[in-house]
Amino acid sequence: MRQWDELVTLVALADVTKSVRLPDDSELEILRGITIDVSAGDHVSIVGRSGSGKSTLLNILGMLDAPTRGTVAFEGREVRRMRSGRLDRLRGDNVGFVFQQFNLLPGRTALDNVMMPLGHAKGRLFWNRRQIAADMLDRVGLGHRIEQVADRLSGGEQQRVAIARALVRRPVLILADEPTGALDIDTGATVMSLLDEVATETDAALVTITHDLHVAARARRHYRLDAGVLETADLSRAFEASTLAASVPSNLAAVPSASVPATRREASS
Ligand SMILES: Nc1ncnc2c1ncn2[C@@H]1O[C@H](COP(=O)(O)OP(=O)(O)OP(=O)(O)O)[C@@H](O)[C@H]1O
Ligand SMILES: [Mg+2]
Repeated sequence: MRQWDELVTLVALADVTKSVRLPDDSELEILRGITIDVSAGDHVSIVGRSGSGKSTLLNILGMLDAPTRGTVAFEGREVRRMRSGRLDRLRGDNVGFVFQQFNLLPGRTALDNVMMPLGHAKGRLFWNRRQIAADMLDRVGLGHRIEQVADRLSGGEQQRVAIARALVRRPVLILADEPTGALDIDTGATVMSLLDEVATETDAALVTITHDLHVAARARRHYRLDAGVLETADLSRAFEASTLAASVPSNLAAVPSASVPATRREASS
């Protein structure tokens, strides 16, 4: 394990702003003045209300989208200056995305989907891609479903295929957008342990967007995005607030075992 002062910055955002022009010609500022460094071995969580800009920020961290103003650097090199072919290779070699909407190839099997990132790999990773992908599907608990067509899988199974696909190439930067959003509490915990485990094995950085305070609490650094502004989050206060805000519906009050613990409520509510 590295010491804090030895951390190598992987991706650095400096004063990043993202705006889009709306159909009525007004401008929507989605992200405002965001500065953050993510280093190898780092684990960062980001919470925030729906529409606060979390997915937009993740796309910029993963170099899928460019900021309107400000800079993005990957391993010290400014991304804006790179040709698109080089940027695609850099992303493919280094970044594993778990998309909020999974983005699996419909009509293709779970195995095909997870093998896909290895199609551009070299050497052992390429030649053994079928076995490596099958092993990763096994680690997310889908060893028995590898030949199932992606769109016939349940939402939670699709999410786990998306996670296997993100991890299969051992990326140095893992970006997970609500990776447990479609999962029950136990499967979610298993999947988060796997993300932590793979990240630790390869000294990768893990950035997790979540509404679940327990998932956020697994990270080492915590942030909140509020209307496009990124600030450090005090999770213990968020836990406290969600406990105080908890009101058990009267039909559940008599059966405590049926109620979800108050602290599992949405971090952003
Ligand atoms: N290309 C675009 N054109 C117009 N508006 C956009 C575009 N991309 C994002 N937005 C708007 O920017 C805001 C932030 O979107 P984003 O998807 O980043 O939010 P989010 O925090 O991930 O929300 P959620 O928790 O619901 O996933 C939203 O209001 C969205 O409608
Ligand atoms: Mg989102």
